[in-house]
Amino acid sequence: MLSLFDTHTHLDQEEFAEDRPKVIRRAREAGVQRILVVGISAESSEAAVALAQQHPGVFAAVGIHPNYAAQARPGDWQRVLKLLEHPRVVALGETGLDRHWDFTPFELQQEYFHRHLELSQQTGLPVVIHSRDCDQDILQALHQAARSGPLRGVMHSFSSSWAVARECLEMGLYIGFAGMVTFKRNDALRAVAAQVPAERLLVETDSPYLAPVPKRGKRNEPAYVVHTAQCLAQVRGMELEHLARLTTDNALRLFARAE
Ligand code: NI
Repeated sequence: MLSLFDTHTHLDQEEFAEDRPKVIRRAREAGVQRILVVGISAESSEAAVALAQQHPGVFAAVGIHPNYAAQARPGDWQRVLKLLEHPRVVALGETGLDRHWDFTPFELQQEYFHRHLELSQQTGLPVVIHSRDCDQDILQALHQAARSGPLRGVMHSFSSSWAVARECLEMGLYIGFAGMVTFKRNDALRAVAAQVPAERLLVETDSPYLAPVPKRGKRNEPAYVVHTAQCLAQVRGMELEHLARLTTDNALRLFARAE
């Protein structure tokens, strides 16, 4: 039996309103024993914690996503902070920077990113980092934070170059791969995935977005993480079972509260 850990999902979102318990059951049947639900706002973080409370094997990350920071109301950050004591909260985020969408002024994104990184260093909880079209800004922010202490976290749904991956690895971060690594044209990304040190590799779906081949175009769900794991196993020349065990061990080390 496989034991996979889907380290990035948005199962709280309305795409799963109709059949969430079935989605979680299908994941378990596919060997996905653990799922991280990642908040994007105060409300979504609370929903993630509620799901983690209801379902064994489900854990929560709490934070305010860069694309939602502009909508945050006064008090929302306090709501996130309040959730930290909950034993099923295993990470902070989703945080990071995004120059692809223009939903939040960039300076405000940077302020929120800094807040999450600082909180991570204060609490020891790892950060889940989103980076889109802004490699240099992300690296700059990470290097700055690294001056105050070690970094703990994951570059989620990684899609940048090996040079960027290497800098993140040097700062102690893990690298998470999602469905994009299975897309036909993404040979360069598969080459990056092949090079990441075994002890820093994570696997995720980013459900409901960007389902892996052969489910591409469908709503993504945690059960499909097996396809991404299969792709990673293939590019690294190892058995799926071995890849599953390796990435799950890594996730349990990073998200240490997720037993
Ligand atoms: Ni996400």
